[in-house]
Amino acid sequence: MHNRRLAAALAVVASAALAGSLALVRPAAADTSLKQLAEGKGKYFGTALVQSNLSNSTLVGVATSQFDMMTPGNEMKWDTTEPSNGSFNFGPGDALVAFAQAHSMRVRGHNLVWHSQLPGWVSSLPSNQVQAAMETHITTEATHYKGEVYSWDVVNEPFNDDGTLRQDAFYNAMGSGYIADAIRTAHAADPNAKLYLNDYNIEGENAKSNAMYSLVQSLLAQGVPISGIGLESHFILGQVPSTMLANMQRFAALGLDVAVTELDDRIQLPASSANLQQQASDYSTVVSNCLAVTRCVGVSQWGVGDADSWIPGTFSGYGAATMYDQNYQPKPAYTASVNALGGSSGGSSSSSPSTPTSSSSSSGGGGGACKVSDTVDAWNTGLTENITIDNTGSAAVSGWSLVFTLASGQTITNGWNASYSPSSGQVTATNASYDGAIAPGGSVSIGFQATHTGNAAAPASFSLNGQACSS
Ligand code: XIL
Repeated sequence: MHNRRLAAALAVVASAALAGSLALVRPAAADTSLKQLAEGKGKYFGTALVQSNLSNSTLVGVATSQFDMMTPGNEMKWDTTEPSNGSFNFGPGDALVAFAQAHSMRVRGHNLVWHSQLPGWVSSLPSNQVQAAMETHITTEATHYKGEVYSWDVVNEPFNDDGTLRQDAFYNAMGSGYIADAIRTAHAADPNAKLYLNDYNIEGENAKSNAMYSLVQSLLAQGVPISGIGLESHFILGQVPSTMLANMQRFAALGLDVAVTELDDRIQLPASSANLQQQASDYSTVVSNCLAVTRCVGVSQWGVGDADSWIPGTFSGYGAATMYDQNYQPKPAYTASVNALGGSSGGSSSSSPSTPTSSSSSSGGGGGACKVSDTVDAWNTGLTENITIDNTGSAAVSGWSLVFTLASGQTITNGWNASYSPSSGQVTATNASYDGAIAPGGSVSIGFQATHTGNAAAPASFSLNGQACSS
């Protein structure tokens, strides 16, 4: 870290010297990267790589300078790692792990159990042999990579879009219990790996994510060691769901990590410059959503650039889905992601990356002018409420209570970033241990889920430490 800073400082001195007395010289690019900015926020920024990518020096240059997490695109899947019963092949996965380690990238293991890229021998097994085959596969692979992966996608894509479980070889042989069994088996092999269920079309609130939510509640109730939910996030331009943030919050509120695991945003080709601007906005939304959720551990893009993306090969007529173009030049989505992370890129600002505006000084409690903005996302019997409290005063707030009135018939069932009492009527939300301080100009985001009996209106009459807030 120090060496990197020193090198950056020397580079600035050197470029200043080279510039001589020219007044208006700017560094060619900002001294930021996705990974440095994400790390500054306690998150990672990842990419997917396949083995053949490692011989493309342009791609490798971008991958190693921008990303600090790597997901093997194919090399840890069952068809590669156990192409025939009991014969294992970890060579391709090992090559990617070695590359990641050589470049200080962590690894998301992907994946142990999936209906796709599954060799035919598994589906042809008599059903009373599938469980043993699955457990052997998980144990062998997770043991091989023990201590080398940050996380495993233990079961990939278990759901149909209507929220029913996919009738694959595992479900057909074992019923829904295969999921708990797979997670427990992975945990026994590598107790320190974060264990995920990963799926697509669960980014917003819908039948499929509701089913995932119910499944996870039941797994947690059974004591199954699940750590997180992966939202693949293979988006279509302009279609990032408006409920994505609330959806991430509700999984986080269960005590799970969430991760954006396979981000891309496909465009019908040819992509216009307006399309690329929309894509920038989509990326910014996704990155901001992750930043807004404490338990969102990071964002991974599926591939490095448009030239290596899986999209054109799978979705005919679509492409241009990543932050880098065919020549690995950054697109507007890259700049938007950097900006969402609080950095600046390729533009007028040549200053160092912004530092978080936190302050340890405070005026010792008290009120302060406040502004509250809130959004409510409701379904037939429930709602998710997200509240942002802005300190618009000039004094720091140190410890706070936010009082508001719930609409009649609403009852809070769970909340995040504050404690809520009582659960209906006039509610007091009290700061959590980690968000009691709100600097002048600073803000805190909290939220809750509630049931309702027909009135899904947002709460009313907010006051902070006894002072009414504007909205
Ligand atoms: C894709 C790979 O990128 C392709 O190379 C392969 O042909 C098919 O799989 N969801 C997942 C990933 O979880 O494993 C998929 O990866 C993309 C969709």
